[in-house]
Amino acid sequence: MPSSHEPDRAEATELSRTLGSPIPIGPDAPLIEVMATMRAMRRLKPDPVPAEVLTELIRAATWAPSGSDAQHYSYVVVTDRPQMAALGDLWRDVVETYITLMGSLVPGATDEPHARMLDALRYQAAHFDDTPALIAACYRRSGPGARRLLDLSANTALIKNLGATRLRRLAAGALTANGLAEASSIYPAVQNLLLAARANGLGATLTIWHLFNEKGFREVLGVPKDYGMYALVPIGYPLGNFGPVRRRPVGDVLHWQRW
Ligand SMILES: Cc1cc2nc3c(=O)[nH]c(=O)nc-3n(C[C@H](O)[C@H](O)[C@H](O)COP(=O)(O)O)c2cc1C
Repeated sequence: MPSSHEPDRAEATELSRTLGSPIPIGPDAPLIEVMATMRAMRRLKPDPVPAEVLTELIRAATWAPSGSDAQHYSYVVVTDRPQMAALGDLWRDVVETYITLMGSLVPGATDEPHARMLDALRYQAAHFDDTPALIAACYRRSGPGARRLLDLSANTALIKNLGATRLRRLAAGALTANGLAEASSIYPAVQNLLLAARANGLGATLTIWHLFNEKGFREVLGVPKDYGMYALVPIGYPLGNFGPVRRRPVGDVLHWQRW
C-alpha cells in the first residue's frame, strides 16, 4: 500500500505477456523488457563476473551521449578482493549514515517496499566484501568556463554586443548549465551500463552515497581531484529473480502539449 503522501505506483503490467518468465539475455535481450525488469538488485552471488563482460558494460556506457560530445568520462572497475574489502569498510559506514540520518526522512520511509529496501541494503552492506565487481563512474569537472562570463571587466567586447544585463543573465544560465553538464553527461552512460548489465543477466544498483565520504572513496579508488565520482555500481549475478519495476502509471506523469 503506498502511503498517502506518496504517488501511486503500478507494476510494469503492460508487458505482463513476457514479464512472468525470464527473458533472453545477451545480444538478443529485448530492450523494452530489459528496461521494465531492471530493478536495483542488491543481493548478489559471489561468483566472479568475467573481465570481458565488465568491459562490454563499459563499452555500452561509452555509447551514451555527453554534453558537447566531450566524452570526459572514466570508469574504475574493482574486482580485487582486498580493494573491495577496503571499499566495504567505507560502504558500511555510509550505509549506516544513510539509515540513521535519512532513513526516516525520505518519502515513504515507513512503507513496506521501503522496509524491504532497507533489508536489502543491509544485506548488501553485510556481504559487500563478496561483491564480484564495482564500477565507479567518473566525469572530469569543467574548468572556470561560464564563471569567466561573470567577470565583466574581462568581457568588454561582449558587453558592447549584448549589454551588461543580458550578459549577466546569460552567465547565470551558463553557470546552471555548467553545474548540471557533468552529471547530465555521465548518468546516461550509467543507465546504459545498468541496462547492459541487466541484458547480460547481471544485477546492479546505481548508488551515490559515497558522497557522504567522497574523500575516503576517492583515496581508495585513486580518482584524480579534477574528476567527480557520480555513481558507484556494485554488480554481480543476482541471488533472486528479476521482476517488473513498480513505477507511477504513465497517465499520471504524461502531459500533452502543456503541463
Ligand atoms: C540518483 C540515484 C541515486 C541513487 N542512490 C542510491 C544509493 O545511494 N544507494 C542505493 O542503494 N540505491 C540508490 N539508488 C537506487 C534507488 O534506490 C532505486 O532505483 C529505487 O529505489 C527504485 O528501486 P527499483 O529499481 O528496485 O524499483 C539511486 C537511484 C538513483 C536514480
